[in-house]
Amino acid sequence: MESRIAPAIAAIETFTSSFGSKPSAIVRAPGRINLIGEHTDYNGGFVLPMALDRSVWIALRPREDRTVRVQATTFDEVMSFDLDSLQREGHTWIEYVKGVAHQLQLNHELRGFDGVITSDVPCGAGLSSSAALELSVARGFATSSGLEWDPIVMAQHAQRAECDWVGVECGIMDQLTSAAAVADSAMLIDCRTHTISALPLPVGFSVVVLDTGTRRRLQDSAYNERRQQCRNAAEMLGVAELRDVPLTDLERAARRGRIDDTTFRRARHVVTENERTLLAVAAMGADDVVQFGELINASHRSLRDDFQVSSVALDVIVDVARGHSACVGARLSGAGFAGCAVALVDSDGVESFESHVLQNYEERTGLSAVVFESIAASGAMEIDITRFM
Ligand code: GLA
Repeated sequence: MESRIAPAIAAIETFTSSFGSKPSAIVRAPGRINLIGEHTDYNGGFVLPMALDRSVWIALRPREDRTVRVQATTFDEVMSFDLDSLQREGHTWIEYVKGVAHQLQLNHELRGFDGVITSDVPCGAGLSSSAALELSVARGFATSSGLEWDPIVMAQHAQRAECDWVGVECGIMDQLTSAAAVADSAMLIDCRTHTISALPLPVGFSVVVLDTGTRRRLQDSAYNERRQQCRNAAEMLGVAELRDVPLTDLERAARRGRIDDTTFRRARHVVTENERTLLAVAAMGADDVVQFGELINASHRSLRDDFQVSSVALDVIVDVARGHSACVGARLSGAGFAGCAVALVDSDGVESFESHVLQNYEERTGLSAVVFESIAASGAMEIDITRFM
């Protein structure tokens, strides 16, 4: 099994005690870590994430009617809503469930279900806990309502749910990864066409997640502001999306005073990050891990200095990680502002790398990090529930 299964067992047990009978199905959708290609997805660009072996799980039983009753194991309460009268109320996890239901209902006839949701994807850490929740809910409805599972279309519905219902204007990277990831692979995604290529990860190297222990809420962060700045930049440069601007044109526009310095820096990050992502794919193909690591490091510098989405904790953990000889590259991963970084590490040195990071990060910040290695898992799926019973 490529995902850790403790949350699956917990979901099944809680279902049985809360709803008085066993669930009939179980689904999961993974979180993700992005190797390179940050803040490029909503600019029509390229990203290179992989799914984590940590997932949101839903143990469920379809209902005959249009009621959805769900419990998340961190809260004792069972929340319920009627698919015929969906209403937005507050900002809790249930809004993600309703948002996906709303979006799917625009195209499909849905049946309700009873479900218990569990997760081992840390929240607000830049590991796509929201997309994992959305895709697990979509997968749950696919099971309860007999919908065909097209991962790309489902990812698009989930993204719309997050933008239109929850109010976070996210790009498509997280949802496409959670829906369509391929085990043991990084996913090169062209975020304009939504085409995906699964690429083998470098042999002998491990992907290590470095959680700074600091948290943000995407709704509160400057994420939407960065998106707006990118839109403004594209408009000033006369292109539909920043993907379409060559670096030389961007630099010329800045020299001629056609764009202000902040806009120039935001755009320069996006343009160079797209280049770095494609170069990273070439480096992986050529087995050039050193070059891949350098691109990862350059990505962090650009996010820190031009896009300005790093934080003291992220800068420290990246610096500490790079101080270990087994680390070939490290950078913040996800939206930024807080949460996690990612490091590519020689597999022989992972253990000593992990204790080096924990110790030195704590010494420099007074904070405790959580560090874990992850294999690349596959995307959202229903799993034969008899395997857990
Ligand atoms: C968040 C968003 C993604 C993407 C990243 C930054 O994770 O949900 O769509 O924009 O930030 O690369």
